Amino acid sequence: MATAAPIKGIHWPRTLRARLFIILLAGLAMAHAMSFAVLFSERYLAARSVMFNTLETDVATSIAILDRLPAAERAAWLHRLARGSYRFVLGPGLPGNPELEPADAEVASKIQAAIGAKYPIKVESIPGAARHLQAHLRLSDGEPLTIDVTPRGVMPVADWLPYVLVAQLFLLVLCSWFAMRQAIRPLANLARAADTLDPNSNTPRLSETGPTEVAYAATAFNAMRDRIAQYLEERVQILAAISHDLQTPITRMKLRAEMAEDSIDRDKLVQDLGEVERLVKEGVAYARSAHGNHEQASRIDLASFIESLAYDYQDTGKAVTIEELGDGAIVTRPHALRRILTNLIDNALKFAGSAEIEVQRQESAVFIRVLDRGPGIPNSQLQAVLQPFFRLEQSRNRDTGGTGLGLAIAQQLATAIGATLTLRNRVGGGLVAEIALRQ
Ligand SMILES: Nc1ncnc2c1ncn2[C@@H]1O[C@H](COP(=O)(O)OP(=O)(O)O)[C@@H](O)[C@H]1O
Ligand SMILES: [Mg+2]
Repeated sequence: MATAAPIKGIHWPRTLRARLFIILLAGLAMAHAMSFAVLFSERYLAARSVMFNTLETDVATSIAILDRLPAAERAAWLHRLARGSYRFVLGPGLPGNPELEPADAEVASKIQAAIGAKYPIKVESIPGAARHLQAHLRLSDGEPLTIDVTPRGVMPVADWLPYVLVAQLFLLVLCSWFAMRQAIRPLANLARAADTLDPNSNTPRLSETGPTEVAYAATAFNAMRDRIAQYLEERVQILAAISHDLQTPITRMKLRAEMAEDSIDRDKLVQDLGEVERLVKEGVAYARSAHGNHEQASRIDLASFIESLAYDYQDTGKAVTIEELGDGAIVTRPHALRRILTNLIDNALKFAGSAEIEVQRQESAVFIRVLDRGPGIPNSQLQAVLQPFFRLEQSRNRDTGGTGLGLAIAQQLATAIGATLTLRNRVGGGLVAEIALRQ
């Protein structure tokens, strides 16, 4: 049942909710119908036998009474002897058809059995819309008598029963639906939680209340989430510890190298050490961007924030221009945002030589974009370059210098301030790095 395979031509609905609902409802409805059928046939049989028995004894008694009465008094008794499905008529009655339907024949045989031995009778069916029989006989004084029978269907159940059945069906639907909800909702919650699982962010934990199985699954899920968070933290802490401890010996080595005699080797050594130092600093920055980012959010004027950032670059002769600048204030963590933007601008400068900044405000978000006209990134690598230490082959070969941590840091910080970082290639060449800040 786990697949949507057709079962004898029936296509199962795709959702577990619908399938369970159908199974439960069909099962309950069938069990219900079965018990109703048993009850109905049981009562039908009982009511029929009661009816026939009374017919036999009552008819026999009534005819005995009529037979004893003087002919003149009989008419006065007729209404007392009439019953729901038959009455007595003095006289020969109506002409009819001696061919009887099986059900009528059964009635006829009962009457026959009751009185036939004493009074020879002839039962005929009277043509008409409804079932109608007449039994003709003669009383002992020769007077003709007719038993006029209008057999009624035996209805052993009350006429309000259909309403009760509809109400029961409604109750079944309601209970099945409620049971489904109970069973499926935790599953949907769990799936959603797994989908949005991000051990670093402070998304709320799954509620560990509810039925035992659900609570158990939620506890297990939360524990798993904690373990993942712990592993991630350990990984970053190792990186932070190594990077941090490397800083001091590197600084010492740099000092020693700078104090050594002038030579080409010395310059190369100082250059290499500078490179290592940068790697280590980026490592620490990466570790910090993942954890321990406790900067307070504050309200900043976005336009002047971007302008001052651009001026800093322009002051050092870098080609950073502002294309579009919305106005208005936003609430964010300015140091983190600055770090994200400098990483993106540094990349644009490194790979394209110049950078453009664009700010666009929309109802629900502010978009800050850093654009360049460089080589761009192959579409298949757009996600990969966000990973730590990932650099494209060409940038390694081009000896652009870099650790491959810039975008990873930007991405981590963006998540930390509740923003998203997306890269895409620009029409006409170049890269767009877009930060979307939800407002
Ligand atoms: N603006 C850009 N244009 C082209 N390629 C880029 C751009 N920005 C980043 N990349 C590619 O993504 C890789 C990862 O970037 P990043 O994480 O900043 O590391 P790094 O700058 O240290 O190489 C770069 O090595 C480069 O190949
Ligand atoms: Mg970079």
